[in-house]
Amino acid sequence: MNAPIISSLDRNGNPQKVFTFDRKTCYIAAMTEMKQIRALAIRAAKKAGQILKKGQQGELKISYKGDLNLVTNVDQLSEEAIVALINKHFPEHQILAEEGHDRTEPSPFRWIIDPLDGTTNYAHHFPFFCVSIGVEVKGKVQLGVVFDPIRNELFFAERDKGAFLNERPIRTSSIAHLRKSLLVTGFAYDVQTDPINNFNHFINFSMKAQGVRRTGSAALDLCYVASGRLDGFWELKLHPWDTAAGSLILTEAGGKLSDFSGKPFSIYDSEMLASNGKIHREMIDVLQKIR
Ligand code: IPD
Ligand code: CA
Ligand code: CA
Repeated sequence: MNAPIISSLDRNGNPQKVFTFDRKTCYIAAMTEMKQIRALAIRAAKKAGQILKKGQQGELKISYKGDLNLVTNVDQLSEEAIVALINKHFPEHQILAEEGHDRTEPSPFRWIIDPLDGTTNYAHHFPFFCVSIGVEVKGKVQLGVVFDPIRNELFFAERDKGAFLNERPIRTSSIAHLRKSLLVTGFAYDVQTDPINNFNHFINFSMKAQGVRRTGSAALDLCYVASGRLDGFWELKLHPWDTAAGSLILTEAGGKLSDFSGKPFSIYDSEMLASNGKIHREMIDVLQKIR
């Protein structure tokens, strides 16, 4: 077995020193970095959550990205706080954040941030919103944190290590039939102008399931399916910051993800179907009915 060799180059591009590490040393270094990332992701989510909670007590400044798509000053404050922490501790990591604090220089690490998922709820003082932070390593989400500051609920998952709610393991529900299922969905901000608006699926599921909810926070919807409070979720036109953390929390809790036809899900694609696994096939059948 060859030990990996790490060399550093001087400013003329000539090898300066050659370090040889065995695999164990490299493994320990990677584990240590993940541990630091985990601690920071949780710290950042809690800090941003406190900003959201406090923001509910003051006057909100609201502006519009589109007809229905509003954004508050607190979305910005929350994102700034998260990004400041990442900049301090991991200034070389990539960032993809909904309100635009992106960093795109090459790095194997990418933080994917929704500083306030559920902004419409937030602006109306409807207490269902959260902070969502996912971390990709080499293009694969490895860690996810979703924090609901109103209920003080922190959902967390790390790949292959399970999913947790306030440090207690969570699992998806055991409901095996759509008829007995409580589902959830959402609608994109172009719902009033684009004919691909999800109303068709909403009607079909309403006729087949025990109930369908629309909560206004996709990240929490995924965590609620992950923790068995809901059985299935589908939505169109979500963004990576809506789904990065929640998708890992869901699969680590035993849930299943795909697009509407059962093909593998990507946080960069438009269709998301998430379930406890047991009703997944039935949900695909409903989604396929009207394509
Ligand atoms: C929205 C929420 C909502 C979903 C929308 C999202 P935002 O995110 O997750 O539940 O239906 O599609 O855009 O704008 O509140 O961060
Ligand atoms: Ca969102
Ligand atoms: Ca948002």
